[in-house]
Amino acid sequence: MSGAEKATSTFDFDGEPTPFQPGQTLGGALMAAGISSWRTTRTGGEPRGLFCGIGVCFDCLVTVDGVRTQRACLVPACAGQDVRSTDPAAPLEEGA
Ligand code: FES
Repeated sequence: MSGAEKATSTFDFDGEPTPFQPGQTLGGALMAAGISSWRTTRTGGEPRGLFCGIGVCFDCLVTVDGVRTQRACLVPACAGQDVRSTDPAAPLEEGA
């Protein structure tokens, strides 16, 4: 591997292996993978993904390893994470 190349690992996004580079956030990795929206608004069903990119707007919510409402723009991507698109209006699953 040359100095310019970086190792790539993956996390699962809605069950699909998604690559990331060391230091990327989940949001950055999703955008790099061509995924620009991963939830919809409660009213109107408008698509949402990264907007502010700094943890302010809460548009980028995902579920990470079973923990709901995590901001994808702040959570570092880690190998083996189970990341799910989130519908904040959806009722919590029993036992969640
Ligand atoms: S993009 Fe605004 S909080 Fe994540």
